[in-house]
Amino acid sequence: MTSPQLTQNKWDFSSFAQSVRSLGLDEPSIADSPVGPTIVSRQEITNFAAVNFLNLHNRPDVMQAFCTGAQRYGLAIGGSRFTAGQGLTYAHQEMERGIAALAGRQRAVSFASGLLANIGFCHAMTHSLSVTKGVEIDNTDVVFVLDRDSHWSLWKGLEHLTYGDRLFSFKHNNCADLDRVLSDLSGKRVVVVFESVYSVDGSVAPMNQLIDVCERHGAMSYVDDANGWLVYGPSHRPFAFEYTGLKRATFVMVSMKKAVGLEGGAIVGSDDDILMLETHSGTAAFTAAMLPPAAAATSYIMKLLTVDEPEIVDTYLSKVVDFRKKLIDAGLPINDTPTFFTSIQVGDERTSMALRRACFARGYQVPSFSYPVTRRNQAVLRLILNNGHTDEHIDGLIETLTDLRRVYPFGTDPTTPAPAVGTRPR
Ligand SMILES: Cc1ncc(COP(=O)(O)O)c(C=O)c1O
Repeated sequence: MTSPQLTQNKWDFSSFAQSVRSLGLDEPSIADSPVGPTIVSRQEITNFAAVNFLNLHNRPDVMQAFCTGAQRYGLAIGGSRFTAGQGLTYAHQEMERGIAALAGRQRAVSFASGLLANIGFCHAMTHSLSVTKGVEIDNTDVVFVLDRDSHWSLWKGLEHLTYGDRLFSFKHNNCADLDRVLSDLSGKRVVVVFESVYSVDGSVAPMNQLIDVCERHGAMSYVDDANGWLVYGPSHRPFAFEYTGLKRATFVMVSMKKAVGLEGGAIVGSDDDILMLETHSGTAAFTAAMLPPAAAATSYIMKLLTVDEPEIVDTYLSKVVDFRKKLIDAGLPINDTPTFFTSIQVGDERTSMALRRACFARGYQVPSFSYPVTRRNQAVLRLILNNGHTDEHIDGLIETLTDLRRVYPFGTDPTTPAPAVGTRPR
């Protein structure tokens, strides 16, 4: 019989766990407060990590919308979307209709998270389904072409395809390369996938030109707008031109985690295309949807950000401009594209993680992104300005980083290439 000791050695999880501990990755910061511009975690920490950057979930009226949704529809649903009478509420229906209307599409299907939306899309578009005779769909010939820096969930959802057979990629944001790849795939049913705003370096896709290429080759397009939804698009905001391209995408995916600041995801498209996804994605049919109060509060926030108080986003974006200017004036090496994602180039992975720990020890939560999220040796500190941050929070962070730069001389090597983004190991 194999001894417990031998079994443990065979799996070798202990030595992996030890190496993970040596990077300090076993110490997630646990909040004893709502997550916002600050968190309480033993002491008060100024938080530059939160993806719910508008901080709306801490507003009393948003909390009230959530509570009203909970009282009306309960805390949870009783099954998946197709569990008759239990899987969806009117709160979900109203939210899905609202998302579709905002996107100018016929229909939306929601999921418990954006990640599940992406994985469900990839599943539906690459497999066959037979509900009963005559109710069948076969997508087993579909070919995918992804921007190389696409999110982990998209690569994960397509892992079963053989690269070079049904799975291809194009250079990040490079229309000529997409054109080249699609030229070799003529006659096939192709889906092109890219993101609107990439979360590590904040780069924005040239959506008009990419969609032009898709249309020229007769390819479908799926744009992951998890990050930009409800922030970019209106004509007076940055990247308005890029966002006009999004209107022509076949499918658009959004996340309720970022601007909305809650949980959930959705995909919009034509009535028939979305009904196919609802039935076939698996992540809509075989797991529960968002919680009803989150769906109700999402509808409330969508109206807040588009009708009642759109200036929330305008004010936030002008704060982002000021924030970036302060970082640049302090000589800190930041990313080029001025979205709300601000990353500081560090390079070496251990240095970046040591910096994260040193920032935390001084009261600042600053996440370190490294391989496989970035390319090797191109680690960054990824900052997100929170709408609730004060000048004091920002000045304190800059002072801390400037101080730590004397100990860890990051971003000083001019030969170090700018960090590339992505979640795919390369
Ligand atoms: C581009 C992109 N797509 C999808 C996701 C996953 O979305 P969610 O957090 O709603 O699961 C993220 C999350 O960071 C993302 O940045």
